[in-house]
Amino acid sequence: MPRPETVPRSMRAVVLDEFGAPEMLRLRDVPTPVPAPGEVVVRVAAVEVSRTRDLGTRSGKHPFSQAVRLPHVLGGHCSGTVVGAGDGVPRDLVGRRVAVMGHHTCGHCASCRSGADEACGGLRLLGIHRWGSYAQYTSMPQECVHPVPDDLDLYDAAAMAATGPVGLTQLRRARLQAGDSIVLPGATGALARTIIALTRKLDVRVIGLSRSVTGRAENLVVLDAGREDLADAVLAAAGGPPAAAIDNVCAPDTFERYFPVLAGGARIVVSGAIGYPALPVLNVPARELYSRNLSLLGVRSHSAAVATEFWQLVRDGFRLDVETVRAHPLSDAATVHTKIADGVLTGHNVLVPPTAADRQEVPE
Ligand SMILES: NC(=O)c1ccc[n+]([C@@H]2O[C@H](COP(=O)([O-])OP(=O)(O)OC[C@H]3O[C@@H](n4cnc5c(N)ncnc54)[C@H](OP(=O)(O)O)[C@@H]3O)[C@@H](O)[C@H]2O)c1
Ligand SMILES: [Zn+2]
Repeated sequence: MPRPETVPRSMRAVVLDEFGAPEMLRLRDVPTPVPAPGEVVVRVAAVEVSRTRDLGTRSGKHPFSQAVRLPHVLGGHCSGTVVGAGDGVPRDLVGRRVAVMGHHTCGHCASCRSGADEACGGLRLLGIHRWGSYAQYTSMPQECVHPVPDDLDLYDAAAMAATGPVGLTQLRRARLQAGDSIVLPGATGALARTIIALTRKLDVRVIGLSRSVTGRAENLVVLDAGREDLADAVLAAAGGPPAAAIDNVCAPDTFERYFPVLAGGARIVVSGAIGYPALPVLNVPARELYSRNLSLLGVRSHSAAVATEFWQLVRDGFRLDVETVRAHPLSDAATVHTKIADGVLTGHNVLVPPTAADRQEVPE
């Protein structure tokens, strides 16, 4: 059996002492977490920078911020290696390469008992309700970790943890059937690209909308989201009215252009919205909702069962497209936040903590 690795008493982490601008994120030494009963400690390989979850929380203006006790360490979805296990955790988990689901549920409320745990009233988010993974080490309940295949890059694993299970949930709520088409705004985004990858083996046509690229590949057509004739272009690319939209951008002008051409009975699934400084408000014509039998569905995240299913898909060979994930040193956390807020950095962006070997060289 391999020897358990030695974990130092202190570690580098990006600490938030006060809510505010990205410059509030400062790299410094803090105590390394120790595993509580039922929990594991993971040496972090990569952590995804999440728009709403991390940028919103850091600003102090998001509802998530109210759950934070300062000083705080952000970061939810990550990947790494289990280096410590508390009482009650199987010892063979130590040494495993894992992806970390960024939330856990109470396990005993009515939603949890009925299997609808994504609606858990006691939902706890890593990097919000407890210190997260913008750090060399992080801890979490054992049920958050999912072993990943040996050949899966850990940067990709962190990226997939952030968007895989929620993307799969969105696709399920869209209830697509063979031959259907779906509208997908923000086609170059992290979540959108995961959804595109997940549709690869389905007989489904994806009509991506983008402010930055256009093009065509396999089951995907990407249209300019800003074009005046977007409705006609969507109908032409889809070969008829699309059966669903998965919209995690919610730009009102784009929504107003594709909404009229959705098929009767279509599902519009939303798990996010982008807009600075204020989030967008959609103008939804109420009569259209009932006269065309449309459904507008919010998906907060995903259940533990869907996360388990997603990681089984990964063990069965599901992968993101190559070169989808950009890696940045953990010390660049503030710059990455600034660029995402400015809209110049999109897609999967992961922070990579220093290893024990290069820890001494990291600047303040
Ligand atoms: N509920 C959950 O579990 C969950 C999980 C992951 C993400 N989300 C949410 O889903 C949304 C998308 O997340 P993401 O990680 O995919 O974001 P992302 O990688 O930054 O992508 C967002 C995409 O939206 C488009 N866009 C349109 N207007 C934009 C603007 N003003 N600034 C930046 N991008 C703009 C861009 O695509 P084009 O250039 O192609 O138009 C961009 O690539 C966010 O609100 C995020 O919080 C939710
Ligand atoms: Zn619960």
